[in-house]
Amino acid sequence: MYKNLVYGINTLVPLLNGKKVPCINFDNAATTPPFSSVMAAVNNFAPYYSSVHRGTGYKSIISTQFYDKARNIVLDFVKGDPSYHTVIFVKNTTEAINKLSYRLKDEIGDGIVLSTYMEHHSNDLPWRYKYNVDYVNIDEKGRLSLDHLEYLLKKYKGKVKLVAVTGASNVTGYINPIRKIAELAHKYGSKIFVDGAQLVPHHPVDMRPVGDPAHIDYIAFSAHKMYAPFGVGVLISPKKIFEKGHSDHIGGGTVDLVTPREVIWASPPEKEEAGTPNLLGVVALVESIKTLNRLNMKKVADYERQLTKYTLERLKSIPNIVLYDDGDVKNKVSIISFNIRGLYHGTVATALSLEGGIAVRNGCFCAQPYIQKLLQVSEGQIEEYKEDKNSFRPGTVRISYGLYNDYREINIMLELLKEIGKNIDYYNLKYRKPPIYSQ
Ligand code: ALA
Repeated sequence: MYKNLVYGINTLVPLLNGKKVPCINFDNAATTPPFSSVMAAVNNFAPYYSSVHRGTGYKSIISTQFYDKARNIVLDFVKGDPSYHTVIFVKNTTEAINKLSYRLKDEIGDGIVLSTYMEHHSNDLPWRYKYNVDYVNIDEKGRLSLDHLEYLLKKYKGKVKLVAVTGASNVTGYINPIRKIAELAHKYGSKIFVDGAQLVPHHPVDMRPVGDPAHIDYIAFSAHKMYAPFGVGVLISPKKIFEKGHSDHIGGGTVDLVTPREVIWASPPEKEEAGTPNLLGVVALVESIKTLNRLNMKKVADYERQLTKYTLERLKSIPNIVLYDDGDVKNKVSIISFNIRGLYHGTVATALSLEGGIAVRNGCFCAQPYIQKLLQVSEGQIEEYKEDKNSFRPGTVRISYGLYNDYREINIMLELLKEIGKNIDYYNLKYRKPPIYSQ
């Protein structure tokens, strides 16, 4: 349906038998190919590319104006409020969370941060290493337990200062009920941060007005997962959080006045963006947002949901398949995790690549605690894996769709998976090798 919108659809990749086939990219949760509109926008802007906030030349003025206006375009995409929020450009979601965790030290202090067992390491470790952290559990289906969230909020009696939760899991695609979570967090005096890396590119997002108990306080997302791969990410926060103190990175562009003895910091967002900003990254992101708006995020979400539903229904009949999915396609982005019983996840991923030109990801997807829970990995097993670095660690195979994927590609994968599922011994012999993806 949206095939012509991205670059690289017809890139030929080699198979093991020497043939070359057009690649099939089912690894969009990691990174998406660029929109052609994004590449054109970057090229069109290039003749005007110049320094931001640093020059009097015409190009510099054009560059500065574009960069400054971009913040409101980004904010509007998630329905933020320009009078209340600040938009800080960073490298990616990981950098955004590290920055936020540094800047919330007065807000959180010796209070509690609730992360969850469903998080990407990036929405766990930056909190874990700075604050008192506890984790919201998942239920038997792998969904976040709202009962446990409320239990923890009550248990800590107003001490929870932040609930840091993913908008959608990068392992199962499960969409978290962020409105309900926000209401609960606010009810017990906490704020909410949403890791939007997997949600924002696939689903409409509305931060909601600040007076609404279901509003989102902080959100972050990455352009490289939304068809704009030029190294930009976004952190959105109430301005006031960044008005006091100074940034984790300080230097050029972050100050109003510097003397040998004194520093007066600039206002947010500039004080948070040390050094020359990534203007072409922002040009790319703005164009990707324009393209997504034109396509309509609701339609994008509906289309990807159909692809996911189609796949899940057919995966069930693949011999030896183990699915990590509760079948609730409505509350899920286009990510599916599975295993083929008897085969190492890396073996299946390698076979898909070498026999079908199909790119997926396998392993733990930087969400090891979630994988350990989903796959019921015991403490004892974890101890063994620590001892033996070459052991075949548990993980899954992950398919993740972008808006340009289609049924033809899915059918090619299903046919190949059928072969793999039927011929475990053959594939074990052919492709089993030490794990290479254990991140
Ligand atoms: N976080 C990205 C993923 O899940 C890289 O693949």
